[in-house]
Amino acid sequence: MKSLHIPLFFFFLLLPLHTLSKQQGQTQPTHYCNLPTDKGSTLKVFHVSSPCSPFKPKKMSWEESVIQMLIEDQARSQYLTSLVARKSVAPVAWARQLIQSPTYIVRVKVGTPAQTFLMALDTSNDAAWLPCNGCQGCGSSHFNSDKSTSFKSVACGAPQCQQVINSACVQNLCSFNQTYGGSTLAAGLSQDTIALAQDPIPGYVFGCIQKTTGASVPPQGLLGLGRGPLSLLAQTQSLYKSTFSYCLPSFRSSNFSGSLRLGPVAQPKRIHYTPLLKNPKRPSLYYVNLIGIKVGRKTVDIPPQALAFNPNTGAGTVIDSGTVYTRLVVPAYTAVRDEFRRRMGKANVTSLGGFDTCYNVPITIPSITFMFQGMNLSLAQDNFMLRSTSTSIACLAMAASPENVNAGLNIIANMQQQNHRVVFDVPNNRIGISRENCT
Ligand SMILES: *[C@@H]1O[C@H](CO)[C@@H](O)[C@H](O)[C@H]1NC(C)=O
Ligand SMILES: *[C@@H]1O[C@H](CO)[C@@H](O)[C@H](O)[C@H]1NC(C)=O
Ligand SMILES: *[C@@H]1O[C@H](CO)[C@@H](O)[C@H](O)[C@H]1NC(C)=O
Ligand SMILES: *[C@@H]1O[C@H](CO)[C@@H](O)[C@H](O)[C@H]1NC(C)=O
Repeated sequence: MKSLHIPLFFFFLLLPLHTLSKQQGQTQPTHYCNLPTDKGSTLKVFHVSSPCSPFKPKKMSWEESVIQMLIEDQARSQYLTSLVARKSVAPVAWARQLIQSPTYIVRVKVGTPAQTFLMALDTSNDAAWLPCNGCQGCGSSHFNSDKSTSFKSVACGAPQCQQVINSACVQNLCSFNQTYGGSTLAAGLSQDTIALAQDPIPGYVFGCIQKTTGASVPPQGLLGLGRGPLSLLAQTQSLYKSTFSYCLPSFRSSNFSGSLRLGPVAQPKRIHYTPLLKNPKRPSLYYVNLIGIKVGRKTVDIPPQALAFNPNTGAGTVIDSGTVYTRLVVPAYTAVRDEFRRRMGKANVTSLGGFDTCYNVPITIPSITFMFQGMNLSLAQDNFMLRSTSTSIACLAMAASPENVNAGLNIIANMQQQNHRVVFDVPNNRIGISRENCT
């Protein structure tokens, strides 16, 4: 790791912007895609359904889209759960199986002269990769490495190659295969200058995708914000000191953007923190100590082992940017849901897709507070109730974690984090959260 001073910021999904607007133009007027400039060390964060996004979500009704997101979430929470539950664990630097359906994107410039991409953000992954020229199975946008004067392929003997799980030597160049969601990808380990907002990061190590199958690979690449080896944090250690924060915009308005602030300098001074826990077997994941949940004023009766952190089994609670709806292990979810329903009194419960606690509006809703060690987080209603704008239904936006694995994992997901500043302060082993409007 010491030898890795090169910024590796990878997770790029880069599409030249003119290509983007052209594609976008098929569905919406080009002028809608108007990316504000990134300043200093702060990147704008966009939802995948925002006008500039290279992701092209299908046209769906509100009901269809919230149900679809829950279905995709199931795969991601299953993946995260199986990841932590696995007994013998390989280092996760480049997890062989990555997660699908990222929710937020940021702009990253790659190469000299710079080519611009909108890469998917994922706090539970370390890797960065993007489609490169000649890629078989990639979409129309790719990084043209021939046009970058600073691009280099990484040789098999390089120390960075050793950090890649299952790397292989192809004509003396470091290559690897991995799966991402339902896709497989083959990539060559590469290095080039990337720019995050106004910060150039020379020699960043990332995967240049040469071949993919399936449809899960984000069209312009992936930028992992995990904290394992070869991650962005590891590669920019001297610049950003393993510190960042984000404010994730609500997906209710596709025009909203949030921010990803890199480095310790501009972080909030007054904010409540909870300790950041480390699972040595899963160094990428951001574990916290969730100690209780309140519905209204009542602390729900949850068996302590449902929340307890256990680095041996991987059980506990992680903060994740890629899962949409918070998942609680079955005894915890059941207790919270039952108390929520009790507080709703006589109102008739109905369901919507996988959401089992829905009501016809208007209704009066109890508050929900996540109690972390050292920090209580009272959620705004928009953080835990899904409300249709067109129909008269509102649902509790949480679900039970997948069962049939031996470790229960609670996932604090992005809907619950929207319109909050979440500070990841790795050197001081803490995570801070406070309300903020991300617009
Ligand atoms: C990736 O998989 C393909 C097809 O199975 C195989 O031919 C190739 O050697 C693999 N490459 C690496 C780097 O493992
Ligand atoms: C997004 O912004 C554009 C341009 O300002 C505006 O015309 C459009 O109505 C906005 N869309 C939403 C969903 O707010
Ligand atoms: C709940 O449903 C039952 C049976 O359909 C109905 O009789 C009752 O009036 C409903 N209660 C409320 C509060 O809507
Ligand atoms: C969180 O709330 C609980 C119950 O209301 C209270 O006992 C505890 O002191 C609070 N913790 C913090 C850090 O404020």
